[in-house]
Amino acid sequence: MPAPSFVDLQSPAGSFLDDVLRGLGSSPKAISPKYFYDARGSELFEAICELPEYYPTRTELALTRDCAADIAAAVGAGCLLIELGSGASLKTGLLLQALRPAAYVPVDIAADALKTAATRIVADYPALPVIAVCGDYMRPLMVPALDGIAARRLIYFPGSTIGNLTPAEALEFLRRARDLAGSGGAMLVGVDLKKDPRQLHDAYNDAQGITAEFNLNLLRRINRELGADFDPGRFRHVAFYDADAGRIEMHLESLVAQTVSVGGRRFGFAAGERLHTENSCKYSVAEFQQLAQSAGFAAEKVWVDAEALFSLHLLRN
Ligand code: AVI
Repeated sequence: MPAPSFVDLQSPAGSFLDDVLRGLGSSPKAISPKYFYDARGSELFEAICELPEYYPTRTELALTRDCAADIAAAVGAGCLLIELGSGASLKTGLLLQALRPAAYVPVDIAADALKTAATRIVADYPALPVIAVCGDYMRPLMVPALDGIAARRLIYFPGSTIGNLTPAEALEFLRRARDLAGSGGAMLVGVDLKKDPRQLHDAYNDAQGITAEFNLNLLRRINRELGADFDPGRFRHVAFYDADAGRIEMHLESLVAQTVSVGGRRFGFAAGERLHTENSCKYSVAEFQQLAQSAGFAAEKVWVDAEALFSLHLLRN
């Protein structure tokens, strides 16, 4: 049975601890959302994607299905398809069928989810070379295993994960993605749109409390992997839409005054003090095109669903 090749570019051990210590020592306290995705966090995120309130996943999936033939016509067959933050590779099947790429390269920091998804893709498409790359795509990606593949590159970045970056970080990221795409290459990005704040609020405050569990799992992960003593029962999930910044913010709010120890250091939380865990920026079509152009891309095409909830942008290098 064919198997995916696996390339591990993991950042050196210790960076999780360094980032958590730095984040807890800063004011306001903050930890990067990239640390949500241990095995349990990836599972919870998959459950979020199924929630009735969380419209982005199903809307993007339907949009991708509806415009797959248009995307294939614009991109052409035989590209090297590089998916950044591939996770469970949920939308990838649609693109693989429409694009018929020369090879598929899923890139993700969550090794478990990556291996499971790459193995499933190989089982579904046995003739397709799959090179799974475990790494932080927020850093420059040097993947020597791809150097010998001459095909034009399409960088695929679905899920509005770009919204988890600040606009300044997104600009830097798009510049690096453009380098990775190479000359004549392209990028297909899923971007959540600005909309009724009520709908945004509900998407991050679901009735079943799965998003709260996803947020609190960060503390459980820090306890397990870094030997910390967070009591998740003494924190609550907070998510709100900041219309001026055009973003959802997620926080963990301390319910009481408490001290937590991580890696031999102690950190005090006042009652009501928040640990900022995620931004999820929302863009209008014009705002995102402007950002992509600032990064040097040409905004070639954009597809939007009938309810104007979500956008898929094809950018050309
Ligand atoms: C992965 N990312 C695009 C999700 C989002 O909507 O910002 C993560 C998420 N956080 C809470 N719910 C989903």
